[in-house]
Amino acid sequence: MKLTNQPHYYGLISILLHWGMAITIVGLFCFGLWMTSLGYYDPWYQQAPSIHKSIGILLAGVWVFRVFWKFANTKPLPLPTHSNIEKKIAQIAHVILYVLMACIMVSGYLISTADERAIEVFGWFEIPATLTGIENQEDIAGEFHFYLALTLISLASAHALAAIKHHLIDKDNTLRRMTSLMSFTHQDKRKNKDHSKRKQQ
Ligand code: HEM
Repeated sequence: MKLTNQPHYYGLISILLHWGMAITIVGLFCFGLWMTSLGYYDPWYQQAPSIHKSIGILLAGVWVFRVFWKFANTKPLPLPTHSNIEKKIAQIAHVILYVLMACIMVSGYLISTADERAIEVFGWFEIPATLTGIENQEDIAGEFHFYLALTLISLASAHALAAIKHHLIDKDNTLRRMTSLMSFTHQDKRKNKDHSKRKQQ
């Protein structure tokens, strides 16, 4: 398994970024729903939003690195088993997923900074409040944040179902090349062996 993407599979860094972000996003969504249901006297009322914001800011940093990594790398070629329409839909869905992630992060930032307070990230460092003072900023950004997150989770679910359909019904490598840390290593070794055998002949 290589660190960088290869023409036929995702590299280790892309796989770790994909699954790390997917788990964190689902976790933040559930955490956010629970957090907004807490009453004022709940012991988590102050602490939960601070954890949610801190993880969100760190995730924004990971998003920036992921986009950089995406453009710095080869994109694995679409599989020959995918129809043209599937390729187009997947391409558009991936772009929308990236844009939704960014919009959720920006709207979350705008909720937190509406009252001109910086965001403290686990007490390690602060992100200053730059955009403040928009009328009803907290409420408007809050509505956007919620509905965008709902859209992201719905689209990600459809995206996951499509990947599972490719795996179980079409029996192609779509999911395997985003999960497999081992099987491609063996395939690579076999390919290399075949290649060196051919060279010797
Ligand atoms: C919040 C959850 C998720 C988000 C935001 C997300 C986002 C993305 C994005 C942006 C890509 C494109 C990667 C690139 O080439 O730049 C991608 C690829 C992929 N995702 Fe997800 N994903 C999520 C969950 C899942 C789940 C649960 C599965 C499987 C059950 C999955 C399976 C895949 C596969 C197989 C690919 C590669 C598709 C291909 O090679 O064309 N994803 N995902």
